[in-house]
Amino acid sequence: MKHSHIVGLGSYLPERVMTNHDLERMVDTSDTWIRERTGIERRHIIAEDQCTSDMAAEAARRALDDAGLDISAVDALMVATTTPDKIFPATATIVQAKLGGHGFPAWDIQAVCSGFVYGLAQADAMIRAGLFRRVLLVGAEAMSRIVDWSDRSTCVLFGDGAGAVLLEGRAQPGGVLGSVLHADGSYRDLLKADHPHPPASPDRKALDFGRDAAGIAAIEMRGNEVFRVAVTKLGEVVNEILQQHQLRKEDVDWLVPHQANIRIIQATAKKLGLSMDRVAQTVREHGNTSSASVPMALDALYRAGRLRQGQLLLLEAFAGGFAWGANLVRWSKQGETG
Ligand code: UT7
Repeated sequence: MKHSHIVGLGSYLPERVMTNHDLERMVDTSDTWIRERTGIERRHIIAEDQCTSDMAAEAARRALDDAGLDISAVDALMVATTTPDKIFPATATIVQAKLGGHGFPAWDIQAVCSGFVYGLAQADAMIRAGLFRRVLLVGAEAMSRIVDWSDRSTCVLFGDGAGAVLLEGRAQPGGVLGSVLHADGSYRDLLKADHPHPPASPDRKALDFGRDAAGIAAIEMRGNEVFRVAVTKLGEVVNEILQQHQLRKEDVDWLVPHQANIRIIQATAKKLGLSMDRVAQTVREHGNTSSASVPMALDALYRAGRLRQGQLLLLEAFAGGFAWGANLVRWSKQGETG
């Protein structure tokens, strides 16, 4: 059986930066409130002429460059996104075309902020099963396109960006050790962006298509309730995955969490007994980039030269749905930079 090793990493952030002070001019908020309640100081915002697939393609190119491979080496492409370019075709097929690839399967994953964690579980399972040798997995989001910019309780939280990993099946043990995934749709109304539906009758028109000019519904969240469930479920899932692999909390070298709120991250780190200097933290600069946050946080650790072969990485995410999960990775990539 093959093991899925991460052999390339890349990420992309759009040029435009929006600070908390910029937001102070848009809604009734303050830099202090945002920093204290979320840990966020700034976020990147996609340019008007860019879309999710542009960011995804750039992150993917960087991951391929990092692996020293080109698109012809890829056997499957998955894009985790909540903000696809179009309802269809899948953003992954658009990314494939932008990368100059042909023929291999390409599809999207929708598990909101848990999309990358879900995608890594799927990619790993398919590599183990011998379906593919190399899978390019991207998390890419233009969250600014589905934010209600008049709602201070949500618009301060999100940012745009993309992160990618190239996975390769190899006989040697290590790489992705396993994953645990969960969902509970009874919580679906606590965090949502109602999708536009085709009008059911000639009387149901524009309003059903949501609030903004693009006709896409905006994010709605009961933040405090989401927060409480997130802290509980993330605490449970990190224990569950460690138990499954007969590993102890002390064995974890790095926590690579979804970057929604520094307080949620701190709570999970505390439960693991990990000091914050063993935790990937990008929320301050990126905000919540949904499915892009885990691969971008991982790439940031990698580019900073912090990762060593043999280290144990615990990735986790919590998302609307609710959908949540975790992956364990035994770092095996050679040639870390930094
Ligand atoms: O990525 C998927 C998962 N998402 C998450 O995990 C997000 C989870 N939730 C959170 O991170 C936090 O709940 C928030 C950051 C969204 C909110 O923090 P909170 O400590 O839960 O605050 P709250 O919602 O209980 O609101 C506290 C107060 C309220 O005022 P009152 O009712 O106490 O007078 C809000 O109206 O803060 C007010 N408030 C704001 N004030 C200034 C809410 N948003 C803002 C704002 N600026 N932007």
